[in-house]
Amino acid sequence: MARILVTGGTGYIGSHTTVELMQQGYDVTIVDNLSNSSIDVIDGIAAIVGRRPEFANIDCGNFVDLDNVFKTYPDIVGVIHFAASKAVGESVEKPLLYYRNNIGSLVTLLEVMAEHDVSNIVFSSSCTVYGQPDANHLPVDETAPIQKALSPYGNTKQINEEIICDQAHANKSLHATILRYFNPIGAHPSALIGELPNGVPQNLLPFITQTAAGLRQELKVFGNDYNTPDGSCIRDYIYVVDLAKAHVKAVERMLNCNEREQVEIFNLGTGNGLSVLTLINEFEAATGVKIPYSIVGRREGDIEQVWAEPKKANTVLGWKADTPIREVLASAWKWEKHIRNIK
Ligand code: UD1
Repeated sequence: MARILVTGGTGYIGSHTTVELMQQGYDVTIVDNLSNSSIDVIDGIAAIVGRRPEFANIDCGNFVDLDNVFKTYPDIVGVIHFAASKAVGESVEKPLLYYRNNIGSLVTLLEVMAEHDVSNIVFSSSCTVYGQPDANHLPVDETAPIQKALSPYGNTKQINEEIICDQAHANKSLHATILRYFNPIGAHPSALIGELPNGVPQNLLPFITQTAAGLRQELKVFGNDYNTPDGSCIRDYIYVVDLAKAHVKAVERMLNCNEREQVEIFNLGTGNGLSVLTLINEFEAATGVKIPYSIVGRREGDIEQVWAEPKKANTVLGWKADTPIREVLASAWKWEKHIRNIK
């Protein structure tokens, strides 16, 4: 069976994707420098799948190390590139770190891929490239204009998309799939892998589950004066397992479809927008746990509302994110309880 290289494969989305790939029979080699993840994730993947992915503790920005991985696994037919720094706030404080990590690693990876004639890459991008879409572009589809990034993190996603397009233009054998994720949440139903935020969570659902677990006193809802039905911001929350499955579809299309365009871009979302207050209510309904919260001022840089038009992924990839939101929220709580030893 074909081997896929998964960079950042011990991270949140990377680990769930590795599970889905292996369950579909692919061999996987993970490369990760463990800067924001734990080696124990490999055990979680192995416990779910019943076999271990190969693993190399290297930095994707290191040409020699990455080159060695491709030499060790000559059966690699494609790469899914997750490895990146992803904290929006930190990127504002340390822009050069983000430009070096996120852009340096993609450039190095594309160089090594060319060296070894590996011509398929799936890239993790983000709906952040759309900024706040105009009202007539909601739900947002792939043709919506790219807007100036609000953070160095967002800028690295935009620049990386351009780097991929430029390299594909110069090298006609390269095939790329750019996946723009909306807001991934939840954990594997086994609770053997999930999201492991570093320090105080910046993202909404990890903050909710940590509040439910008693680690945080209360959730702060950033603003209830937006131009939305209940005044809180709206996002498209997508189950990480559904998201992982889209990567398998993207890989299959790359390996098997001759009709595809050289660079294809897909939104990965549910097509439904949920407000912050709705998500809290749904979490309480799904788990029976009350979330203490208060309304505070808006968070700088937040977008009022964005949700996906996922039709292109639905039709072209034959994929749909359809796990019910309460099941998704229950999975996140099951994972939080697992890592905190809560019965
Ligand atoms: C953010 C980034 C996005 C990035 C993603 C990855 C921005 C504008 N977007 O998405 O580019 O890909 O993280 O992690 O920075 N909220 C609260 N209280 C909290 C935390 C969040 O009310 O304690 C609200 C936010 O205001 C927002 C919603 O919850 O309306 C979701 O926030 P979050 O989970 O941080 O995701 P995004 O900001 O959408």
